[in-house]
Amino acid sequence: MNRNIRGSVILVTGGAGFIGSNLVERLVEEGAREIIIVDNLFCGREDNLPPHPANIVLYKEDAEFASSLEYIFDKYKIDIVINCATKALNYSFVNPSNAFTVNTNIVINLLELLRKKKYETLCHFSTSEVYGTAVYEPMDESHPKNPMTAYAAGKAAADIAVETYVRMFDIDAFIFRPFNNYGPKQNYRGFLAGVIPITTYRIFNSQKPVVYGNGNQSRDFIFVEDTIDALIKIFPLIKRGEAINVSTDNQIAIIDVIKKVCDLMGYKGGIDSLPARSADVQCHNADNSKIKSLIDYKLTSFDAGMNKTIEWYKKEFARDKNDKTN
Ligand SMILES: NC(=O)c1ccc[n+]([C@@H]2O[C@H](COP(=O)([O-])OP(=O)(O)OC[C@H]3O[C@@H](n4cnc5c(N)ncnc54)[C@H](O)[C@@H]3O)[C@@H](O)[C@H]2O)c1
Repeated sequence: MNRNIRGSVILVTGGAGFIGSNLVERLVEEGAREIIIVDNLFCGREDNLPPHPANIVLYKEDAEFASSLEYIFDKYKIDIVINCATKALNYSFVNPSNAFTVNTNIVINLLELLRKKKYETLCHFSTSEVYGTAVYEPMDESHPKNPMTAYAAGKAAADIAVETYVRMFDIDAFIFRPFNNYGPKQNYRGFLAGVIPITTYRIFNSQKPVVYGNGNQSRDFIFVEDTIDALIKIFPLIKRGEAINVSTDNQIAIIDVIKKVCDLMGYKGGIDSLPARSADVQCHNADNSKIKSLIDYKLTSFDAGMNKTIEWYKKEFARDKNDKTN
């Protein structure tokens, strides 16, 4: 097994999205030879990407279609694929069928290409959502998969497909499983947006923040740069077929996250309450001892990560407003 980021040609599906675009920046710093992004811009944005140096190329293609990937694999000698493409969890409330199949079709396409030796290594992004509400805490990598949404069901099926292909064909693939991420470049538009960007955006636009249910549902929020740092460090070490949790040591109630955004935005008004959403996972308390035992694991404090994040959004919203008025 020879896994090197430096000098490799790396294809990132979903590379114009939140985590994908932050990852692309880091891959450039790490000396990737060429980065090929496949993103249909469902939620991703071209301006999330660094100004394109010659070694970054974006294909606005749909990775659900095998043929849309195959011609790209014919054109380049790709070494590594990092699969970040997905449609946000909230999408599964309006289109559960495609929210499921986008997750499974893309991974099957990538696994078939790997089985046919079109590249060497697949890093597949899973999610803590595959665990569902905790059966025991903290949740380690052996926690049962008990998805609550069609999105998470598709992600769980994708993970099982990776595990199965590794067992059957001895291919080099592994599962990287982050808990909730936050940070610059996370989508803030429309109903697909997550709690931090949507709250920030609402306050910026003089709307009240919104909480679903009592807000006591908790998540483990990790700063996106920490997730990516963990990926870069674990990449050469993790065994094929294995999964690894990537999380902080804390969980935070959603209402406290909203209050933190209010503080940082200098907002002193009220918070609107809406009924709890069905299938909302109640708690996500992660066990990250596996990754800690393997790498020098660095975590940014929630305060420091949130400061950086809100600063980015303030600049981004101001730029967006400026673009619209010009
Ligand atoms: N954001 C989080 O909190 C979080 C937590 C755990 C796991 N993850 C996982 O990390 C990965 C990246 O998530 P993200 O938060 O960056 O999401 P995102 O929505 O910002 O990015 C996903 C990208 O995939 C693209 N995409 C969607 N359908 C596609 C298709 N058919 N073909 C090509 N591209 C397509 C979108 O346009 C988008 O740019 C996903 O696998 C997600 O499940 C995210």
